[in-house]
Amino acid sequence: MKMISPIRSVRNLNNIFVMKKNSLIAVTFFLLCISCESPRETTVVNDLRVEYMKNPVGIDVNQPRFSWKMESREKGVSQKAYTIMVSTDESFKTIFWSSDEVLSDKSVHIVYSGPALKPATRYFWKVQVKDQDSKYLLSKEKAFFETGLMDSGWSSAQWIKPNEEDTKRMAPMFRTTCKLNKRISSARIYTSGLGIYEVFINGKRIGAPDERGGREYEEFKPGWTDYTATVFYSTCDVKDLLKQGENVIGAIVASGWWKGDIAFGKYGNPDLGFIAKLVVNYTDGTSETIVTDPKTWKYSLDGPILYSDIYHGEVYDARKESAWTNSGFNDSEWKPCGINTNFKGNITAFTGPVVKVRAQLQRTPVKITRYEGVTKTDSDHGMINVKGTYNKPAKVSLPKGQTAVYDLGQNMTGWVRIKVKGKQGTEVTIKFAEMLNDEGKKSRGDDGPGGSLYRINLRKAKTTLQYTLKGDRQGEEYHPTTTFFGFRYCDITATDDIEIQSLTGEVVGTASEEVGSITTDHPAVNQLLSNIIWGQRGNFLSIPTDCPQRDERLGWTGDIQIFGRTACYNADLSSFFHKWMGDMRDSQRDDGAYPDVAPHCWVGWGQAAWAEAGIIIPWTTYLMYDNKGILKENYQSMEKYMTFLSNQANEQYKYNGAGTNYGDWVSYVRTNNRYISVCYYAYSALLMEKMSLALSSGREDEYALKADYYRTLYNSIKQEFQTRYTNESGLLQQNTQTAYLLALKLDLFATEEIKREAISRLRQLIVDNGNKLNTGFVGTGTIMPTLSDAGLIDIAYNLLLQRENPSWLYSVDQGATTIWERWNSYTKETGFHSDISMNSFNHYAYGAVAEWLYRYVAGINTDENRAGFKHIVLNPLPDFRKSFPEGQQQIKQAGANYDSYYGVIRSAWKIENNGSVKYNVTIPANTTATLKLLLNNGKGEIFESGQPVKDAKGIVSVIKEDGKAVIELVSGSYSFEVR
Ligand code: BGC
Repeated sequence: MKMISPIRSVRNLNNIFVMKKNSLIAVTFFLLCISCESPRETTVVNDLRVEYMKNPVGIDVNQPRFSWKMESREKGVSQKAYTIMVSTDESFKTIFWSSDEVLSDKSVHIVYSGPALKPATRYFWKVQVKDQDSKYLLSKEKAFFETGLMDSGWSSAQWIKPNEEDTKRMAPMFRTTCKLNKRISSARIYTSGLGIYEVFINGKRIGAPDERGGREYEEFKPGWTDYTATVFYSTCDVKDLLKQGENVIGAIVASGWWKGDIAFGKYGNPDLGFIAKLVVNYTDGTSETIVTDPKTWKYSLDGPILYSDIYHGEVYDARKESAWTNSGFNDSEWKPCGINTNFKGNITAFTGPVVKVRAQLQRTPVKITRYEGVTKTDSDHGMINVKGTYNKPAKVSLPKGQTAVYDLGQNMTGWVRIKVKGKQGTEVTIKFAEMLNDEGKKSRGDDGPGGSLYRINLRKAKTTLQYTLKGDRQGEEYHPTTTFFGFRYCDITATDDIEIQSLTGEVVGTASEEVGSITTDHPAVNQLLSNIIWGQRGNFLSIPTDCPQRDERLGWTGDIQIFGRTACYNADLSSFFHKWMGDMRDSQRDDGAYPDVAPHCWVGWGQAAWAEAGIIIPWTTYLMYDNKGILKENYQSMEKYMTFLSNQANEQYKYNGAGTNYGDWVSYVRTNNRYISVCYYAYSALLMEKMSLALSSGREDEYALKADYYRTLYNSIKQEFQTRYTNESGLLQQNTQTAYLLALKLDLFATEEIKREAISRLRQLIVDNGNKLNTGFVGTGTIMPTLSDAGLIDIAYNLLLQRENPSWLYSVDQGATTIWERWNSYTKETGFHSDISMNSFNHYAYGAVAEWLYRYVAGINTDENRAGFKHIVLNPLPDFRKSFPEGQQQIKQAGANYDSYYGVIRSAWKIENNGSVKYNVTIPANTTATLKLLLNNGKGEIFESGQPVKDAKGIVSVIKEDGKAVIELVSGSYSFEVR
């Protein structure tokens, strides 16, 4: 702990005398703590966050929420109380607010309740934790949050636009100059765009200053929201970019989600727009504000981006580059802007991880193939005529007429950065694809010669870059900025000879922190897990998308409700889902129906298992992060959806559920779509009950009454379900895996006995199908947890390790590096799936199996009653199968890490050759856990770090129950062995 000088302490104390008495006590403790050196720091308080973010800038939240972690090498560490201190100066000379000491073990989402926060102000904060031994621990990180404009407004800033119609989808540039005559103490620019935009000041791109003295750049600002209601603005510290004297502010805006084909005409044919407010504070205490105003801003359409569309790509002419964002540039040809009146919604601050180039994920070529023309074979399209190959990154001389195919080894989302040398005016064309044609045969679905790009599955999306060289002798570097692609391969051609000096695949997406990982001793399962995380990286780009390559890339609600829990184990998505639920609310229809895609721009509303994302995502976010805020924020909207469902009653059935358009999408065996709607209605009622209970603070309060209401509703749906869908024996008329899975998951059978029958029926359905599933999105989303909860964990392992079609490992064996839309989107045996309209190679839904690997194989679960992993239920279920389907082997080792809001949880097991099983677990400080360990036929003995478990440190209790040992643990790391 850092010593601070007594003088500073005294000065601090002088300043706080004005505070009320109890605050003073808290602050005194706080300062005492600052000034005493701890002898041995085994426990620290760190990872301070406000509204899910570390040091967020530009938040518009009146009562932000604070979170922190305790990290300790010791066992049994916990928090008894906390004190949060907020100050407007970094050295805490004046205390703006102190929470006083609050007796609580909570350290997640603690609500600020001090005086009203001022706009555009940076607040520093610290937290002091009183631990289990009443020792005080003070956070040491520099932690702050900065408010955005809040209600201080845009100071007459206006949306500006080009004053002419743009029929070509060019990217207009806007610019103004301003004189700043004094020394600058701080400066912020607040900006937003209609279309995606980029801002420059004095020739430099703006970006948040990072800890290493560089800048972090945000791509695709302002992100995708339902623009009929909301557009985000962002706040950026630009002090370092400004200077005394003349300054230039420039912005370039491209069609993006506002005007491109991806908007499906939702906003008509609107103009692109830009709005900005620059606030400069001078050292003399005065300030100046510069805003977008048609009178002082000019525009030009004569820039290098000649065409831009998310689906289709970018046309860029480097000969048109100029120093338009620098002072001294002659803008006499530029024209005065007009006022853009197309946007009628609210401009609100964005809080959350932004879309970025994720540098650590970049890929270089694993193979480059140069070819010219086609060699005729007995196939329809022939094979490419190969002129040369390289098996690693290389400089490639590409003569006119030849094509270079680059394989980056990984299906990804983003763009390529290319360095190329050639004559001025040479046009270089880059096309993208997820797969290559294999044999050039139409019967195999190939759309061109073997070895060339397979692009027919992109449907109408042109996914092409066209770059015209300026002719730099050293070579020139280019990557697009206004479009992205889902690709593993690209090919390059040019109108003249060029040298491709380098090419890198850059991953672009929402940079949510990745917090989970799993590994096993099974290489194909590990590849599957890699495919799942890459599917997530590729499809979380401002919104959760179905796929990143074809002419969709939309926020399909069904896909994310299925994959959401997995996604939360892989990455911290609290703010991402908080934002996306805003899109859901904005796009909710007046009758309460949630959209099929959010933000809504296409297709409809109110379809079963899709619309319910509006209920499932808040629940998931609450469970994973103890985020009651998301429940409160969406409660009314969710109730509106429940009203929509109740209005679907018809003469015959009262509980009919939502629409039936999608059913168990792309399943091998069809389950009645209406059946799925009814089951999802029951699911919604169940979750509404749970969420109401989570919000209730007493038996009789409004939420408790709601919980009763939804329990009754669920029971009524269950009753009608039974009359509608079960036969005389109480089993289902729908004899499909998905039908049984839903009824079991939602507990829809009449008696325990019937339920047991149903479980054996389900087992049989899978065994009779050769140990294979035949489920679509809906069934696959639930199959593994439901089987395991029903005691069919052996069947679940059989399915996981199945290698025939359909199965997870089937696509792995076909060479997949991401999760596919179909189990057999491509097979080595027969080629591409014939339904090219739905043949995406990056569709995360089936990746929901990772949830099962985290929650059942590794066994990391939160206790629903103490959400956010405050109390952890560790229930690892090793592969104890007694017999194996042909070709399968036992998984002997598996483990997962999950960095929860309380810290890292670890759970790993290993089955030793002598039959004993080792379990290593870590429970973060300030949490507790219930660990359930399977005993060998109920007889096993348990040891921890070599001692009998009852004598081991950190064990609160051990009981034996249903062939398991149930062990209550305090925080710490443990090594158990069941012998
Ligand atoms: C999308 C799916 C989506 C489905 C709904 C498809 O085109 O790619 O992922 O959920 O439509 O029918």
